[in-house]
Amino acid sequence: MNVIITEDYDTLSEQSADIITNHVTGLEAPVLGLATGSTPLGTYNRLAARQAIAPIDYRHVSTINLDEYVGLGKAHPQSYHAFMKEKLFDHIEIPEANTHIPDGLAENRQAECERYEQLIDSIGPPDLQVLGIGHNGHIGFNEPGTSFQSETHVVNLAPSTREANARFFSSSEEVPCQAITMGIKSIMKSRKIVLLASGQSKAKAIERLFQEEPNEAFPASVLNQHPNVTLIVDQEAYQLVEQ
Ligand code: F6R
Repeated sequence: MNVIITEDYDTLSEQSADIITNHVTGLEAPVLGLATGSTPLGTYNRLAARQAIAPIDYRHVSTINLDEYVGLGKAHPQSYHAFMKEKLFDHIEIPEANTHIPDGLAENRQAECERYEQLIDSIGPPDLQVLGIGHNGHIGFNEPGTSFQSETHVVNLAPSTREANARFFSSSEEVPCQAITMGIKSIMKSRKIVLLASGQSKAKAIERLFQEEPNEAFPASVLNQHPNVTLIVDQEAYQLVEQ
């Protein structure tokens, strides 16, 4: 694993935006695997801001998002569809048809998971997969105990994950109980992975990432088995790792 330690969140965001930009400008038909949540927000803000100053072409780019809440449609303000549109897609003029996120309203969820996995295999795998990390080590919404062989599936969100995400909703009861997520095997298909971690609240998870052998009780540990992972971590999130 390559490790880039940054002074702060702003520098982390700048560096990950640079990696994405390099893929977008350097590849003929780049496929980007994207995450939602607080951590990649600074990255997306930078990509959006750069478009206003020195725009680059995104028409040849495809995106595959990691996950979506079950029960939230595109129009729901807390859906990951809405997040991606507001924070990134509306600013980079990527054709909507090139952007892919699981359908949280699919009536047949199993069929939706199969469709999504086939999509990953047909247009992907991502040349670059951006990941955040949960306090419990989840990647995507693959909670502790998820099989390393898992493909796209429906997951019951851990109480701690629902609690952590309640900040986006008006009350914690509104946080959906389930999500559709790319599986760990799906994520591991990516050619390159950039894992982002910022702030003191992620320090324990980052410490475990370095301490633990790959094990399903700590999903992010699987990344130690991938040949091309770059961790971009700020000093606060790196503080418990022995140096
Ligand atoms: C989001 C996702 C999650 C988040 C993780 C960290 O699409 O798949 O794994 O990356 O929960 O979330 P933040 O960045 O909000 O701390």
